[in-house]
Amino acid sequence: MSDAGSVTESDRARIDLAAVRADTPGCLQGVFLDSAGSSLPPRPVVDAVVDHLRLEAEIGGYRAAEENAEALERTYQDLAAMLNGAADEIALLDSSTRAWTQAFYALDFRPGDRILTSRVEYASNYLAYLQVAQRTGAVIEVVPDTETGELSVTALEAMLDERVRLVAVTHVPMNGGLVNPAEEIGRVTSAAGVLFLLDACQSAGQVVLDVDRLGVDMLAGNGRKWLRGPRGTGFLFVRRSLCERLHPPMIDLHSARWVEPGRYELRADARRFEMWESSVACRLGLGRAVRYALDLGMGTIEAAVTARAEELRHKLAGVDGVTVRDLGRRRCGIVSFTVDGYPAEEVAEHLAQDGVTLTVGRASSTLLDMSHRKLPSIVRASPHYFNDEADLQRLVESVAGLRRTRR
Ligand SMILES: Cc1ncc(COP(=O)(O)O)c(C=O)c1O
Repeated sequence: MSDAGSVTESDRARIDLAAVRADTPGCLQGVFLDSAGSSLPPRPVVDAVVDHLRLEAEIGGYRAAEENAEALERTYQDLAAMLNGAADEIALLDSSTRAWTQAFYALDFRPGDRILTSRVEYASNYLAYLQVAQRTGAVIEVVPDTETGELSVTALEAMLDERVRLVAVTHVPMNGGLVNPAEEIGRVTSAAGVLFLLDACQSAGQVVLDVDRLGVDMLAGNGRKWLRGPRGTGFLFVRRSLCERLHPPMIDLHSARWVEPGRYELRADARRFEMWESSVACRLGLGRAVRYALDLGMGTIEAAVTARAEELRHKLAGVDGVTVRDLGRRRCGIVSFTVDGYPAEEVAEHLAQDGVTLTVGRASSTLLDMSHRKLPSIVRASPHYFNDEADLQRLVESVAGLRRTRR
């Protein structure tokens, strides 16, 4: 069970399952256990997107954006409220990777600069480290894990010196329920005055995130996963004191102002990391998704998701031939497992035939961790608060059925 310090007893109040399921038409189509992939948006989110598209069709995209300008601003405000930051520290991008890379590539690395990261790093982040290391002579170092699989904060502390330019860590990996100790990492980086970039793509929307408690300087997330927003949405938090010092890797007439022929000025706020064109409909949908989560309460969501996942792990562990693969002392809503004698792809295919949607995590997405554990792939189930007991049971029975049919 999670040792999440920020979930209080009152958060453990139950979510009104009937209400959230009624808001989620996809719940009726089958068993959906892929919120770590791309979740089911609730009805108000779908309405926000579709209504705006209709408005664009009636009065044109520019006027439609003007009419919904206030709602668009609320997207920034609500994201800031969710993160305990300020609206001017938020940029809206079209994915978590876009948000993360806008921040990462804004840092200037010199030969010998050290980038410290975690073993469970997401492939796209690591590819960026490799590219920057090759271009600049910076070096990538992976902080060792503890026995239970999370990043060792003691090891990190011992590695910090004046050559460390950045600590960049994935909070929750794509391939398992581990929650890295971001708060402790932030404490250590803040004390050392080292920049801390958190990939919160898999934690945003399922784990309480508070940028002050986490001690992060930059944080990236997306909308389509646990926040249940539309695809093509992401966001970046950049601490105000840092923002002014960061020059985005790409700029346009939204992020900067062309003051005179030979001079431009960057925007002062985090929107310097954005570009002018965007899907306003999707941004409004993201805003609605964040509001939906805030109305339920992030602590309540975390408690519900953690409990569902823990229950699923318990049930799966009881099936002959199944090994639950989640690492970490603190675990969240991602449940990873393997089935003896069956490649993960085959398990997922069998489950799909039984009406259960989930995904496979392949080694190439989290290469360091998967090679370390000698896992070619894992089956990944990610129950959200809208999943009920019967959903979990269907998954478990289907996996057990697989074992019975081919022995
Ligand atoms: C940990 C992690 N970081 C980043 C990403 C990338 O997110 P996006 O597709 O929004 O760029 C993912 C996607 O699965 C992820 O799991």
